[in-house]
Amino acid sequence: MTIGSSIPALDAAAADLAAVDLADPGTFIGTDLTALWGRFRAERPVHWNAPGPDRPGFWAVSRYEDAVAVYKDSQRFTSARGNVLATLLQGHDSASGKMLAVTDGERHREIRKLMLTSFSPRVLGRVAEQVRARTRRLFEGVVGRGPLDFAADVADHIPINTIGDLMNVPQEDRQKLVDWNTQTLSRDSAEHDEFEELLARNEILLYFSALAAERRRKPGDDVISAMVNATDLTRPLSEDEIVFNCYSLILGADESSRMSSIGAVLELSRNPEQWNALINGDVAIETAAEEVLRWTTPAMHFGRRAITDVVLRDQVIRSGDIMTMWNTAANYDGAVFADPERFDLARTPNRHIAFGYGPHFCLGAFLGRTHVAAVLESLRDLVAEIRLTGEPKRLWSNFVYGYSSLPVELKAK
Ligand code: HEM
Repeated sequence: MTIGSSIPALDAAAADLAAVDLADPGTFIGTDLTALWGRFRAERPVHWNAPGPDRPGFWAVSRYEDAVAVYKDSQRFTSARGNVLATLLQGHDSASGKMLAVTDGERHREIRKLMLTSFSPRVLGRVAEQVRARTRRLFEGVVGRGPLDFAADVADHIPINTIGDLMNVPQEDRQKLVDWNTQTLSRDSAEHDEFEELLARNEILLYFSALAAERRRKPGDDVISAMVNATDLTRPLSEDEIVFNCYSLILGADESSRMSSIGAVLELSRNPEQWNALINGDVAIETAAEEVLRWTTPAMHFGRRAITDVVLRDQVIRSGDIMTMWNTAANYDGAVFADPERFDLARTPNRHIAFGYGPHFCLGAFLGRTHVAAVLESLRDLVAEIRLTGEPKRLWSNFVYGYSSLPVELKAK
């Protein structure tokens, strides 16, 4: 998991863990993260990340068992005051109590139930077929045609079109949404403008506000119409609830799935043994997709705020403290995964927490799995060899792990 970069990397073996800053995206660039997280799990499983000049400190758990315990415990840890460092460190999330991921209790349960009707595997069976066909067409357009950027030319077009179809977003608006997403969530350099980030977020919200108004006038059989016209709730969804949940769907669906697919191609280009296992059909695609999700873990962390004092191992988490769960560390925990640093497409069981755990478990897990499986299937059927033709470009983020560019050549079978 070591990635080249021009930024001086942290020496994971020698670093003073108490001084490592997990809020700093630079920490994750160029660092041997396998070694770093190995040390955190062993030496400081419940770690206090010291405050910075303009932000509070926070807790970070890296062991699987502890991450799962916090995810499950919505009685003592709330999502309603933010669920990622970006919002938790600010002290609030403007979508709090309106967007599924940052709402708790009864309202969370009823909105989730409503949205699940549009996201169940039964409903999504047809969508899965479309994802596989679209992915295959994208591959057919690039395989055997010389150098390409797998991120821009293939991966960027898969999830946005799936969620775009489910929400019935006009085709011509989809690229604009991908661009706004990228500005909101993940960047590939340290020089970014927070104002621009805010503008992009507002653009997405305004965009969905207009689309929701249109669906009120002319409902269809898409997810937005389902929210706008929901009657089976204690009170109808407010304008804010609709717009924030659209925002969350587009953000959740697009970014993480893209990162898993790009990460799969990168890892397979480096690992001839596993590449052969895939193209020879020695592993089931569904099993392989789970290992890709574990290996890439695109959402590095999620977080909560303690609403009461909690004792975790030898630490007391005070009411009001921020707690973060590092999926990226938990998914490599040797207590749960045999030989965790081995990329093994045949790994079973594979109880990774790339989709989280408990009441906020990813609503789009089936779709995320479908995206990764479609990419693996097209690779297996159409590609003889993946050749890296340049340096992959890492994202600049403390939240999303992945690559914004992956120059490769895909040789035809
Ligand atoms: C929640 C990861 C794909 C929509 C989550 C959570 C994780 C996650 C870790 C838990 C957040 C928490 O506990 O605070 C991923 C990964 C994906 C993926 C790794 C792809 C590889 C998707 C897709 C969609 C989606 C395709 C939309 C269709 C959501 C939503 C929630 C969520 C709405 C909030 C659920 C709730 O609070 O009840 N996701 N996700 N995700 N995800 Fe995903």
